[in-house]
Amino acid sequence: SKALKVNSKNHLEIGGCDCVDLVNNFGTPLYVMDESLIRENCRIYKNALDKYYNGNGLVLYASKAFCTMAMCKIVQQEGLGLDVVSGGELYTAIKAGFPMEKVYFHGNNKTIDELELAIDNNVRRIVVDNRQELLHVNRIAAEKGKTVNISFRIKPGIDAHTHDFIRTGQIDSKFGVALENGEAMEIIGEAVKLSNVKVVGLHCHIGSQIFELAPFEEAARVMLTFIAKIKEELGIEIEELNLGGGFGIKYTQDDDPIEYDRYIKSVSEVVKSVCEDKGIKLPFIVIEPGRSIVASAGITLYRIGTIKDIKGVRKYIAVDGGMTDNPRYALYQSKYEGVIANKADAAKTEKVTIAGKCCESGDLLGKDVLLPEAEEGDILAILATGAYNYSMSSNYNRIPRPAVVLVKDGKARVIVKREDYNDIIRNDIIPEDL
Ligand code: LLP
Repeated sequence: SKALKVNSKNHLEIGGCDCVDLVNNFGTPLYVMDESLIRENCRIYKNALDKYYNGNGLVLYASKAFCTMAMCKIVQQEGLGLDVVSGGELYTAIKAGFPMEKVYFHGNNKTIDELELAIDNNVRRIVVDNRQELLHVNRIAAEKGKTVNISFRIKPGIDAHTHDFIRTGQIDSKFGVALENGEAMEIIGEAVKLSNVKVVGLHCHIGSQIFELAPFEEAARVMLTFIAKIKEELGIEIEELNLGGGFGIKYTQDDDPIEYDRYIKSVSEVVKSVCEDKGIKLPFIVIEPGRSIVASAGITLYRIGTIKDIKGVRKYIAVDGGMTDNPRYALYQSKYEGVIANKADAAKTEKVTIAGKCCESGDLLGKDVLLPEAEEGDILAILATGAYNYSMSSNYNRIPRPAVVLVKDGKARVIVKREDYNDIIRNDIIPEDL
């Protein structure tokens, strides 16, 4: 990976910092994020939109992948907008001083409090998921004497997660309104009659960790065809099209993602040709990558403890973290690669199962992971953990969350403090009459 090097001590290095020094200074487990690589990824997308749409677009970082105040700051400095999906993510952005005129608020069941927080803070867009929400937004906006710019989450009927992606596969999704049963047209027709919302855009997101171009191209085609139909039937011009995120990243040698620039280029060609064919104006294009901005920029460092060699069956290497800091194997059987950071150049000679420390058999970080022979006390780096690790972490078994450090040019700064046992009991109350 671009973020990593092996230094003269044969230690793994990230952002110019020796991983052994990092764990000596900050403890384990430890999330480490390479600032330069995050910025580079932001720029790849931003430059691609500038290039293929003449700057008539906006890249949003999907903050669910990794949301902290420092990350919001980086995203702001790189000129990207932000996709938030909860009051908590929105609050993080507000407290980080993120410009609200670049925030899009998503979610299939936003609460009234969350909608009020978003409307009070004048976010750029509320991406309306359903009819109940449309009416709530209109009512809240009216109470506050505002007009809220909205877009609609559309199910374009494309399931990118089947081998050959299929149309209509996603009508049963919990997100958004469907095209094929007329639901989408109906809700837009209703929205244009409301006085405190303005219909600005459409949005779709067809899945995550996608390696093919075709489903993205097809989604763009379907959405633009729908925009043309809206113009014809309702007489309104949809100004903005948000095509979502989902660009795949390389977790292991088996993954072969397309370069981000190529996705944008190919989709832009489809966008332009469909607009021309249908005689509609080129909309403002929004994309919202999450994983591909942060995943490869992050690693997690663990201390190896128990090693259990069940001869002829399986060798377990246990680390001092696990599903609490990275639930992705437990949830999706995700695959990761590992490096022993204090002997980073050692040949990978064994296939091992990496176990966490939770009281749960499924608490693994991977099966059949290739590693050099490990000893108790070694530092294990799991690679490409920058997305959906910290953001999906938990306190199961009352395990405190690790710290997050941001590294750049040999400097490491804590951006999330390590939790301690007092954090664990902070909200506990023993009732007086107990
Ligand atoms: N936009 C919307 C509306 C989304 O739902 C998502 C992801 C994104 C953008 C960003 O997608 P990305 O570029 O990160 O693929 N926890 C799972 C991933 C869930 C993704 C949910 N939505 C995982 O760990 O793989």
